[in-house]
Amino acid sequence: MEFIKLLEPITIRRLTVPNRMVMPSMGMHFTDQYEFNRRYQDFYRARAEGGVGLMIIGPVAIDRIGAGSWMPGLFEDRQVEEFRPFLAELHRGTRTVPGTQLFHAGRNATAPFFEGVPALAPSAVPSRLMKQMPRAMTWEDIETVKESFARSAVRARDAGFDFIEIIACTGYLISQFLSPVTNFRTDDYGGSFENRMRFGLEVFRKVREAVGPDTALGTRVAGNDFMDGGCTNREIALFCAEAEKAGIDAINVTGGWHETNVPQLTCHVPPGAYVYLARGVKDRVGIPVFASNRLGDPELAERVLRSGAADMVCLGRPLLADPDLPRKILEGRPEEIVRCIACQNCFDSIATGGAVCCALNPLMGREGEFRLEKAAVPKKIYVAGGGPAGMEFAAAAAGRGHDVTLFEKEDRLGGQIEPASSPPGKQAFGSVTADLERRLKPAGVRVRRKSPLTMAKIRRGKPDVLVVATGAVPMEIRVPGIDRPHVVGAWDVLRGRIADIGRRVVVVGGNAVGCETAEWIASQDIPDPETFAFLAYHGAETQEELQAILYRHRRQITVIDMVEKMAAGTGRASRWVLMKNLRLCGIELRPGAKLLEITDGAVIVEANGGKESIPADTVVMAVGSRSVDGLAREVGREGLRVVTIGDAKSPRKIVDAIREGFEEAMKI
Ligand SMILES: Cc1cc2nc3c(=O)[nH]c(=O)nc-3n(C[C@H](O)[C@H](O)[C@H](O)COP(=O)(O)OP(=O)(O)OC[C@H]3O[C@@H](n4cnc5c(N)ncnc54)[C@H](O)[C@@H]3O)c2cc1C
Ligand SMILES: Cc1cc2nc3c(=O)[nH]c(=O)nc-3n(C[C@H](O)[C@H](O)[C@H](O)COP(=O)(O)O)c2cc1C
Repeated sequence: MEFIKLLEPITIRRLTVPNRMVMPSMGMHFTDQYEFNRRYQDFYRARAEGGVGLMIIGPVAIDRIGAGSWMPGLFEDRQVEEFRPFLAELHRGTRTVPGTQLFHAGRNATAPFFEGVPALAPSAVPSRLMKQMPRAMTWEDIETVKESFARSAVRARDAGFDFIEIIACTGYLISQFLSPVTNFRTDDYGGSFENRMRFGLEVFRKVREAVGPDTALGTRVAGNDFMDGGCTNREIALFCAEAEKAGIDAINVTGGWHETNVPQLTCHVPPGAYVYLARGVKDRVGIPVFASNRLGDPELAERVLRSGAADMVCLGRPLLADPDLPRKILEGRPEEIVRCIACQNCFDSIATGGAVCCALNPLMGREGEFRLEKAAVPKKIYVAGGGPAGMEFAAAAAGRGHDVTLFEKEDRLGGQIEPASSPPGKQAFGSVTADLERRLKPAGVRVRRKSPLTMAKIRRGKPDVLVVATGAVPMEIRVPGIDRPHVVGAWDVLRGRIADIGRRVVVVGGNAVGCETAEWIASQDIPDPETFAFLAYHGAETQEELQAILYRHRRQITVIDMVEKMAAGTGRASRWVLMKNLRLCGIELRPGAKLLEITDGAVIVEANGGKESIPADTVVMAVGSRSVDGLAREVGREGLRVVTIGDAKSPRKIVDAIREGFEEAMKI
């Protein structure tokens, strides 16, 4: 496909953006001091060099109460100087247009934790997200916040930003005013929709007045709050039409609020799912509209632009995974793009208090830390295992000039990525293998498939270094009945190796793999999305029946585990979706149930202080995995330099496998 629209320039007010790709604002958490530090600069420089058209740096705090110290700030004049030299450098060296997002989270701010004051909101409605009760804003507060937006906008302009976006989405302050779910005011700022729009529109007008006519202004809205009783796409589109009149030049349309129970970001969200929300807005405004969420596939992005649903496309996580995505399109090599799999590692890393990091791009957020230089002394390296760890190591080490041979015992590379990409919504994970494998040949790696690395081969080949990336295999447990023919492994189920799965299924092990396998089994009976769309399109079934068909399968599936928390190892950003899916599909979860025995037609468990029998035609074992590291121990005795990486070191995640592969390759 030719990327005609993606590469077309666009004018926003008086600003020319060289292409239609936008890097939206993403909180990277690289500071705890409101600083735009070196780490941010290295991160953004790499994306600008990668050729993105409009890069929205931020979010940036407009005051201390509406944010948290984990983002840069523009609430003091001195902060302008943190940005100015960097933006001047971007203007000199790249065609990327730098923008910023001015941020106020309202009741979802972390202010109380950092500043010791209550968060501000239109009304005192507790935040489910931050678990705090905000204070209802007085008219004086409203004036102060409007003033802070305006002052920060002027600072942003003076620092050299060409585009300023005001956040009005995701359940943050302006959207809290818009929504009847969070706005119970009885004054001019509450009640009718006209009143609820007032605060946002006053902010826009005040900012326009402050920055003057030359600066391009945008706002980011939730295309639909997806909150019971909240704003729908129709109201949001009306707000956008008013925003245009108030001096806004572009509208960035994302999905719903953080607090909604409709997934926004996980791999379960189909690519391009929320484009229709942008179109709803575009129908009501005459200014450029950006579509957002899961648009990293350039062919899809091009189709969206060609359809006229939006004028620009946001590439958030896709640019974390591959900063050079735009350049690869520009240079006609889109097949080299490292594709984001929406694994949510980026969000999970902040949920646990850290900075954002990307599972697929070990350099992300550490652009200034590593030099990809040739090794002083090239070494002969054998890599055992062609999973993500082994492939990342091999490509990175060969890229540094080492002589690398990769041995994989199976006929294909990828290791656990194959079963990992089976569960519903996770098909995109398959691209991890393809994207890593593609780098091997150009880097000069010799790949030996169907070739287990053995001691004999090592003795014959005499490498200087052995890298053990032999991954993990499913754990086995000994209980009476485990050898019965109806007991199967979860990985085999996910790999499609089990032809007959009975009607009554018990999955033993409620970790991520067990829960995802249960979901996969249920999904086998449910019509695929295309069939569902066909039925809906033709009105073949009633609305109610259609909904029921989506969840209805013929099996009785139970997941048992000794522990109390199911899918404990799944990151917070994805776990709730997995739990919701299990509930919707009627899968029974039995925490606190210990497997005692497997009989002909049941599993016997110890639960609630007694014994219980759960009927089972098929028993699926998902009791964890264990490292395969025998080679490392054997070779250790021969005095060879050995490096063990990925699951072979201890079973974990893709991010660990790829990081360790990359870091060890940088050290050797
Ligand atoms: C069902 C399932 C779902 C998962 N979901 C996720 C997820 O959502 N997110 C996430 O981050 N992680 C997930 N994981 C975990 C993730 O896939 C692993 O952490 C990752 O694949 C580990 O990479 P690795 O290269 O260390 O090992 P592996 O992927 O296990 O690869 C090891 C390779 O070594 C080969 N090998 C073994 N011995 C030899 C030998 N002697 N010689 C040559 N080759 C050998 C194996 O055949 C294999 O190809 C999931 C795993 C499974 C099974
Ligand atoms: C770690 C992270 C932080 C984010 N922070 C913000 C933010 O502060 N403001 C905002 O408007 N969107 C934020 N987003 C949402 C992204 O801008 C984008 O809309 C979302 O990731 C979906 O697009 P994508 O599928 O292209 O990544 C964030 C996303 C991520 C992954």
